[in-house]
Amino acid sequence: MIVNTKKLFEVAYGKFAIGAYNINNLEQAMGLFRGNLDSKAPFIIQISKGARSYTDKSMLEAIIRASDALFPDAVFAVHLDHGDEEAAMDSIASGFYSSVMIDASHEPLQKNIEITRRVVDAAHAKGIVVEAELGRLGGVEEHIKVEEKHANLTDPDEAEEFVEKSGCDSLAVAIGTSHGAYKFTGEQGLRLDVLAEIQKRLPGFPLVMHGSSSVPQEEVQRINAAGGELKGAKGVDEDDFKKAVPLGVTKVNIDTDGRLVWTRVHREFFRDQPSKFDLRDPGKVFMAEYAKFIAHKNEKLGSAGWLDDVRAQM
Ligand code: G3H
Ligand code: 13P
Ligand code: ZN
Repeated sequence: MIVNTKKLFEVAYGKFAIGAYNINNLEQAMGLFRGNLDSKAPFIIQISKGARSYTDKSMLEAIIRASDALFPDAVFAVHLDHGDEEAAMDSIASGFYSSVMIDASHEPLQKNIEITRRVVDAAHAKGIVVEAELGRLGGVEEHIKVEEKHANLTDPDEAEEFVEKSGCDSLAVAIGTSHGAYKFTGEQGLRLDVLAEIQKRLPGFPLVMHGSSSVPQEEVQRINAAGGELKGAKGVDEDDFKKAVPLGVTKVNIDTDGRLVWTRVHREFFRDQPSKFDLRDPGKVFMAEYAKFIAHKNEKLGSAGWLDDVRAQM
């Protein structure tokens, strides 16, 4: 059942974070739905601009509709991840998305507000929910690498002004995370102090944590043992999610970890079975492993076990 993102936030706020997982193909969709049902969790499927153009956006929409029919017990929202104004407006017009993200975080504050406001007006006219971003994460996104020196944390005072003037429904905050597999060079971690300040200015308002993959070291070691070269990859401590939830984090974005599962499965599969060439063989392993990963992540986010409650409240 595809549901409204804002309604999901209302049930989750302060109690658990909803896992927002990116998909690009049908194997990810199958693993995602199975993992969420196995752990009895509501979730958000998100599609980036890159995912929309990997084959064609209509292919992903069809996969999601088919999954909805195949897994009638699933409760989820469909979200555009890191949209620019054009992608956000196109997604709003399509009527398929529960929510869109407008990411104008690279613009100065007032311009970010202006662009976000235009998207909010168009989205709200159709009952669609809007996530916006303030502050800049480091890392790689849509092939744009944000150097650490250009990344900056969300200013709590600006956050209050931004939400009031833009009218957005949730806010992606920069609190030390970054996209990709190389988040921290040393012992840094989440800036929960900054998060607490933002929540003080925006009590009850859903906050979103991007760049939240934990880059499991076992996964990295297995990839490297099977021929990979991931040196110094490091992610968010997944035990920090339960500290972020009472501070307003309601949606947690995870993409890189799923790519690591895919890479590990395929590298090990072809290393161990060099004579095989049927793509369905590693595909089946990946779907099962991805489902396991999702179920584990939902335990860490606190969303596991909430499915029936959430369905009853939709
Ligand atoms: O934040 C970026 C997401 O991980 C999506 O990545 O733009 O390569 O699809 P992508
Ligand atoms: P990761 O790269 O940490 O998985 O972050 C994904 C993300 O923020 C998608 O918007
Ligand atoms: Zn992101």
